[in-house]
Amino acid sequence: MIKIKTILFILLILLIFLFSSCSKKESNVVYFAVGGAPNEIELWEEIVKEFELKTDIKVGILRQPTDTDQRRQGLVVPLKSKKKDPDVFLMDVAWIAQFAASNYLEPLDSYIRENNLDLNVFFSNVVNLVDKYNDKIIALPIYVDGGVLYYRKDLLKKYGYLKPPQTWEELLRYSLKIQEEERKNNPNFYGFVWQGAQYEGLICNFLEVSGSNNGGIVISNGRISLNTKENREALQFMHDLIHKYKVSPPNTFTEMKEEEVRMFFEQGNALFERNWPYAWTLHQSEGSKVKDKIGIAPLPHFPGKKSISTLGGWHIGISKYSDKKHESFEFIKFVISYPIQKKLAIELGWNPGRKDLYEDKELLESLPHFLYLRQVFENAYPRPNLPYYTQISEILQKYINSAISGKMNVNTALKKAEKEVQKIIDRYNGCIKIGKK
Ligand code: GLC
Repeated sequence: MIKIKTILFILLILLIFLFSSCSKKESNVVYFAVGGAPNEIELWEEIVKEFELKTDIKVGILRQPTDTDQRRQGLVVPLKSKKKDPDVFLMDVAWIAQFAASNYLEPLDSYIRENNLDLNVFFSNVVNLVDKYNDKIIALPIYVDGGVLYYRKDLLKKYGYLKPPQTWEELLRYSLKIQEEERKNNPNFYGFVWQGAQYEGLICNFLEVSGSNNGGIVISNGRISLNTKENREALQFMHDLIHKYKVSPPNTFTEMKEEEVRMFFEQGNALFERNWPYAWTLHQSEGSKVKDKIGIAPLPHFPGKKSISTLGGWHIGISKYSDKKHESFEFIKFVISYPIQKKLAIELGWNPGRKDLYEDKELLESLPHFLYLRQVFENAYPRPNLPYYTQISEILQKYINSAISGKMNVNTALKKAEKEVQKIIDRYNGCIKIGKK
């Protein structure tokens, strides 16, 4: 009897010990929310391991989807309800201002001072435009993005084209010709794949096509100008690529996001692809049908106009509600350091927000197009940097998608979008200065 009692007592103590050490362990973890393509998550797991070996801080990865809108929603839910986790996360340039204005972000200035971090290593235009809110630093760049054109070098050569297309008209001409020929062997072959699904990526594509016709989304003195001749022409062209010329697949406006487009091209089913620089390393990896057959070039433009890239990218910040802000900053310090930024660049093709890496010989040898990309970023076209940009974007996504799907004509779509976006601007205009954080 005594024996059983003693055993039960020991078991109880063991259970209490186990439970307390488990919960202690969990409460010591810094939760890092991050999404992206599968290879990105794998690399983050590796980086986290390296960090844990260097410090006594544990990091738990909260895995998010690839789609930027879904990632934002996934973060807004815990932040709105002031949850302690996630502590630290990546944010898209498109919604950092919204997070800052919602007071979700811990200002980093004092941490930066305490750690003697030199912000001059980063592109100052990016930091000033994206990472400052009310004169406080609320995030730091992990990578900068800009839209680029991927092309099949082998196919252009095969059909006698010496250079990638400079204008949209050339892109169309090459696409029609090569598509017709290639379909004889591959009926699923298309000329040009791009992001047309109803989500943020579509806005980036629209900005590039319209911007390369001197159009775009212009908000000035509280007025939006959207239904312009330049934008109508651009949007009509996007529609025609799918319906009139049929060089872009019919699921462009229903399904095509970054990863769908990337895989379509990677399977050898397209001549041209609009995507972000991350696609390069995946296209060039083992198993890719386009390995060593591709080139990267600026996106085309309308005759006599300039090529435009949308400024994208992801930045890291700490939740205001985190109870591990110092540990989270240690993690930030680690991931923005030269060696980790270099690793992210080489393994994922991500373009660092740090200027010094663009002089790194090893990096330039493995990714020679980086030098050209640096220029792309310095001239890239930002989306309106407004705390309520995502609300504007949701309206634009709906109408632009309706136009490219053929449900609404281009003129009506832009007119309606302009009217609805104006209402949003008017609603916020009283309390937030347009175009200025
Ligand atoms: C990329 C860009 C980001 C953009 C998104 C759109 O992730 O870095 O800025 O909003 O694509 O899908």
